[in-house]
Amino acid sequence: MKRYGRITGWGKSVPQRILTNHDLEQMVDTSDEWIVTRTGIRERHIVGPGETTATMSVEACQKALERAEVGPEEVDLIIVATSTPDYLCPPVSSIVQDQLGATRAAAFTLVAGCTGFVYGLVTASQFIETGLYERVLVIGVETLSAGVDWTDRTTCVLFGDGGAAVLVEASDQPTGILSCELGSDGSDWDALWYPGGGCARPFSEEVLRNREHYLRMDGRRIFRFATRKMTEAVTNVVRASGLPWDDIELIIPHQANARIIDLAVRRLGVAPEKVMVNIDRYGNTSAASIPLALCDALEEGRLKSGDHVVLVGFGAGLTWAAAVLHWQPERVAEEPIRVEDWPLLSNLFQPITRVRNVVWSTQVAARARLQDVTLAAMTPIYQWQRRLRRK
Ligand code: UT7
Repeated sequence: MKRYGRITGWGKSVPQRILTNHDLEQMVDTSDEWIVTRTGIRERHIVGPGETTATMSVEACQKALERAEVGPEEVDLIIVATSTPDYLCPPVSSIVQDQLGATRAAAFTLVAGCTGFVYGLVTASQFIETGLYERVLVIGVETLSAGVDWTDRTTCVLFGDGGAAVLVEASDQPTGILSCELGSDGSDWDALWYPGGGCARPFSEEVLRNREHYLRMDGRRIFRFATRKMTEAVTNVVRASGLPWDDIELIIPHQANARIIDLAVRRLGVAPEKVMVNIDRYGNTSAASIPLALCDALEEGRLKSGDHVVLVGFGAGLTWAAAVLHWQPERVAEEPIRVEDWPLLSNLFQPITRVRNVVWSTQVAARARLQDVTLAAMTPIYQWQRRLRRK
């Protein structure tokens, strides 16, 4: 019998301490107005004493397990997606496994930048579908405040700390991931990186003096990549899922910049109500941003049982990842009736759905091309205006 990975529990953990844009005005040469208009961020959570990637992971997992009514000793595997582990060694996943009391669980840390959670979710589903494991915890978590240069206004205003976890359990009913796409384009690996502190350039006085142990980012390069990839990846996974585009109730994108989300949403031709945005409250929390937005969407009643949701991320690597999820967290006794169970209906609907999705993706591509051309034409004008303002 085919097995599916069903999300049955979820939970988030964010530090108490909040850093607002007005607080940042006191620290670097920036303004609330610049941050809000350029990014959509108003505040972010920052860890306090004793709070780390491990402690946030444990709290998020405890909530996820409690919701699913599963004990920690029943967990088979823990996947922690993060770029900010407590230590380079040991893997933070083992600390989480121990502190959680998940005595039977295997554990590993997955580094795929901001797309880590979706990579982790797909990996968890594979372990379940093959029959190796019954219950897998997937966590997206970051302590980015430890890695940003608090004197660099181009990065420090963007990032925040937090984490969220889901429990994926084996199910014999069709649910969970319907289609997915994972990708990497390493030719832009230095668009977002820590130049020093790794094995290529270990810690030294020079690394510290040049502040190379802090995060560096080429924002404009990632911006272009993100708008293009988000649109392409969403189109691809929806087409691969076989669902009509209208059957997607919610899109949960990585929260890096409200303008990136806005542009992608316009390209996709989606109503803004169908897109989850919570960047104003957390900033960019990298691997934590998609599961945090998932938890908030559930708290706000924006995702209901039976809905289809698209998760889409992009980030360091540069990587991207998208998945269409059938959301049905409760363990219902009967099998849901699906169109595929009715050969006549299925034969009738599938070609129509395919044609409609081809028309939709052609429209998306045309809108994206138009936006690219308009942006290319407008860029010199913006630059000229900027030069004038500076004079
Ligand atoms: O999580 C995935 C990885 N990250 C991303 O996806 C980030 C993608 N990129 C972005 O979100 C945007 O590129 C940023 C938000 C990082 C920057 O926005 P932008 O519109 O691309 O700004 P810019 O870098 O072109 O800078 C415009 C101006 C510059 O001044 P001049 O050269 O025009 O005089 C910057 O120096 O804004 C200035 N600036 C700031 N001003 C006030 C940069 N940071 C700040 C700041 N406060 N914090």
